[in-house]
Amino acid sequence: MTEVLEPTLTRPVDDAALATLFTEAHTINSFAPTPVTDAQLAEIWNLAKWAPTAANLQPLRVVFPQSPDARQRLVRHLHEGNRAKTLAAPAVALLAFDKDFHELAPRVVPVKPELRDQLAANDDARYQLGRFNGALQAGYFILAARALGLGAGPMGGFDPVGLDAEFFPEGDRSSILVVNLGHPADTGSWYPRLPRLEQAEVLRWE
Ligand SMILES: Cc1cc2nc3c(=O)[nH]c(=O)nc-3n(C[C@H](O)[C@H](O)[C@H](O)COP(=O)(O)O)c2cc1C
Repeated sequence: MTEVLEPTLTRPVDDAALATLFTEAHTINSFAPTPVTDAQLAEIWNLAKWAPTAANLQPLRVVFPQSPDARQRLVRHLHEGNRAKTLAAPAVALLAFDKDFHELAPRVVPVKPELRDQLAANDDARYQLGRFNGALQAGYFILAARALGLGAGPMGGFDPVGLDAEFFPEGDRSSILVVNLGHPADTGSWYPRLPRLEQAEVLRWE
């Protein structure tokens, strides 16, 4: 007989939560001076880690360049238009994927002991899996920040070669996204909503 699911597992969230996560949420470009604590930054991961990855491999790694020196080292590799707002943000996360994520496979996928060696033997599959699932986890990270009441400003506008050399000189990680984090200064902290695609342009039933 099928076990009855815990009601919390599939309970829809209310409209206020949907607004915070999706319908009213915006990408934030300027922030109030309200600080973001290290505990809040850790809490983003403590939520995001529960969202799924292929085979549970979890390739995302996160650096918080919070000291003035680290922030300057980050900003010099961003595109010009992303620099001032990143210097001013209360917190910033540099999201990357671990190119050697397969080394942890025996611990995080104990049900498939052969996986580490399979991935070690296939450079292309390993890279694709790491990059795709790292990006997936970056999306979860943004939504987790929103769920905790923070505004997020994701940015892909950076020099990936320079950024990787700066923060991952051993060559073991590859940058995916930089995310400014904080509380929006005011309603001018985001741009007007750009059009989303229509349902009929995206969805198809067969
Ligand atoms: C992967 C990714 C890369 C982005 N890169 C930049 C960027 O380099 N600079 C920037 O100002 N905004 C960047 N954005 C912000 C997007 O333009 C913004 O999220 C989108 O237009 C939706 O805005 P909205 O949340 O206010 O509706 C990026 C967003 C994502 C998800």
